[in-house]
Amino acid sequence: MKERYEELIKIINEADYNYHTLDNPTITDQEYDKYLRELFDIEKQNPSIIRSDSPSVRVGGKVLDEFKKVTHSIPMLSLSNVFNESEIEAFDNRIKKEGISPNYVCELKIDGLSVSLHYEKGKFISAATRGDGVIGEDITENVKTIKTVPLVLNKPIDIEVRGEIYMSKATFNNLNEKRKEKGLPLLQNPRNAAAGSVRQLDSKIAAARKLECWIYHLPNPEDYGITTHFAALEFMKDLGFRVNPNNKLVYNINELLEFIEYQTKNRDSLPYEIDGIVIKLNNIADQKKMGFTAKYPKWATAYKFPAREVLTKLVDIKFTVGRTGQITPNAVLEPVIVQGSTIRRATLHNEDFVKSKDLKIGDTVSIRKAADVIPEVVRVIKDRRDGTEKDFKMIKFCPICNEPLIKKDEQVDYFCLNPNCDARKIEGLIHFVSRKAMNIDGLGDRIIEDFYNMHFINNFVDIYRLGNHKKDLVELEGFGDKSIDNILNSIENSKSNSLERFIFALGIPNVGEKTSKILAKKYKTMTNFMEADFDELKSIYDIGEIIAKSIINYFSVDYNKIQVLELIKIGVNEKCLLTESVENKNFTEKTFVITGTLSSSRDEIREKIESLGGKVTDSVSKKTSVVIVGENPGSKYEKAQKFGIEIWNEEKLNEMMNK
Ligand code: IVH
Repeated sequence: MKERYEELIKIINEADYNYHTLDNPTITDQEYDKYLRELFDIEKQNPSIIRSDSPSVRVGGKVLDEFKKVTHSIPMLSLSNVFNESEIEAFDNRIKKEGISPNYVCELKIDGLSVSLHYEKGKFISAATRGDGVIGEDITENVKTIKTVPLVLNKPIDIEVRGEIYMSKATFNNLNEKRKEKGLPLLQNPRNAAAGSVRQLDSKIAAARKLECWIYHLPNPEDYGITTHFAALEFMKDLGFRVNPNNKLVYNINELLEFIEYQTKNRDSLPYEIDGIVIKLNNIADQKKMGFTAKYPKWATAYKFPAREVLTKLVDIKFTVGRTGQITPNAVLEPVIVQGSTIRRATLHNEDFVKSKDLKIGDTVSIRKAADVIPEVVRVIKDRRDGTEKDFKMIKFCPICNEPLIKKDEQVDYFCLNPNCDARKIEGLIHFVSRKAMNIDGLGDRIIEDFYNMHFINNFVDIYRLGNHKKDLVELEGFGDKSIDNILNSIENSKSNSLERFIFALGIPNVGEKTSKILAKKYKTMTNFMEADFDELKSIYDIGEIIAKSIINYFSVDYNKIQVLELIKIGVNEKCLLTESVENKNFTEKTFVITGTLSSSRDEIREKIESLGGKVTDSVSKKTSVVIVGENPGSKYEKAQKFGIEIWNEEKLNEMMNK
């Protein structure tokens, strides 16, 4: 039994390492669960034999009264910061001035909290937070639950290593999702969430938080005969620690700047948050030569990404009405520049969002705008309140038509259900002409609003009758013959759009661009689509009950039906003209993952697969039907083999596409 017990510990620890540290599972979930259950049974029957490196410690259990204080034998230092190229150059020059010709290791600056891990004879003994750098807190029980922290090393050595504990973006979002459901206050960011989790006295809670860890520092490299930081990273990796694969050895400042540029762009595609790049002198002898200040090593620094968050004042909260009648509170902000663009407004989504952030009018708030992301209010700075702030109050009546607002089912949003509400109608018209819908050039949001208010257009059909008002329109300020002709031309051209645009333009709730395409392909004409029944709609791949219900509801309103028929009568094309969309049985309703380098770009392949009716996702799971493998494939290929998923090379892909 003892032998089996030891064997199980080895199997499970290895499986954890392969899955969590190498991201390369070697056994199936079922097998893993089976081994774990067997181990738990043995431990339950024979509590006296439980080993400290048993994976059963990962589930947590101990509840502490407090965290013990720990003194770090070597202080845990922080890093100095640099913010731009010239400060990086100055750092490089300070090193060169000491007669060093530097090589640097560049690393991602993980946004979490630093941890020191101690091992004796290769077994995990204890873990501590940084604290004030000299005295930290003993978080051993919680760190045991982190599956990327090995409980046993590949060599029976005594060692201290340091790294960063963090929470992935996905885990953070899930956690907040759950907190929202339970009505608990939301956590501000993954770093706070990780720090809060590490400081749980009940290690079961910490275990449930699914923290992760990257190791990046060996305080005593000389003890192991190691002379460079890069070799230290390799050494720690070989011992079984999780070392970030993005770490790079660079030989000059240009390579260093290139690394920064690349990682800055790549930042949002990482599954965890980083807040900069750490630059470390590679040679340990050179590090010694540079030495330390009281707070920082002089041989390393952190390049910090420009702030994505800026403080400003929440001047007011104004409500807007969307085309579905949804009411949105919007923050009116004192204009601020964030990452190069001026922000004046930010959506506050709904009443719950405003309440969860505890926003008051007049508050100082922190605004964030990541690249290509709409601005958002991150949090309120409560310290800045002076008592003059006004409470937020949700409105009860539509700000445009004054109808009472309604909450649908269990939803958080309020709606104006008046189909004749001016705001809803204007938004509906704006959507109808928009680029991805009927694509009518020249009819911008303002013009639609003006034409509506001047009673030239009241519904979709009126757009196609605008020509009747040509005489009046050319007289309007800012317009002339030519601009009106252009608008009328593009209205005329829009009549020949393919069906998917027509469907999308109607603005049926929950029917987006992608769904419209699926529906157009399926029904071929608007007339067919209008007659679709609920069960048939629901049975279409990628269309669920909510969408089906929404379509049925839309056409159950006579006015909507009449309007669509009128549009067809006026000459709006009702046929699906998608040509490339010959569906191919090898692709329809299948999910694909692409790995490695192929002769066309992944985006091109993705588009082609989608046009043939398939779906492309990023990670291999049980739902994956086929993994397409190019040159130098990643761990996805191995995962596919392990899970027995069908694998196609490029030749096979082309063959299937042409079948
Ligand atoms: S090296 C003496 N490397 O950033 C070496 N720190 O702002 C000290 N951090 O306290 C740390 N990623 O918590 C190092 N790759 C990395 C890091 C990193 C994140 C954190 C760490 C440190 C803080 C300094």
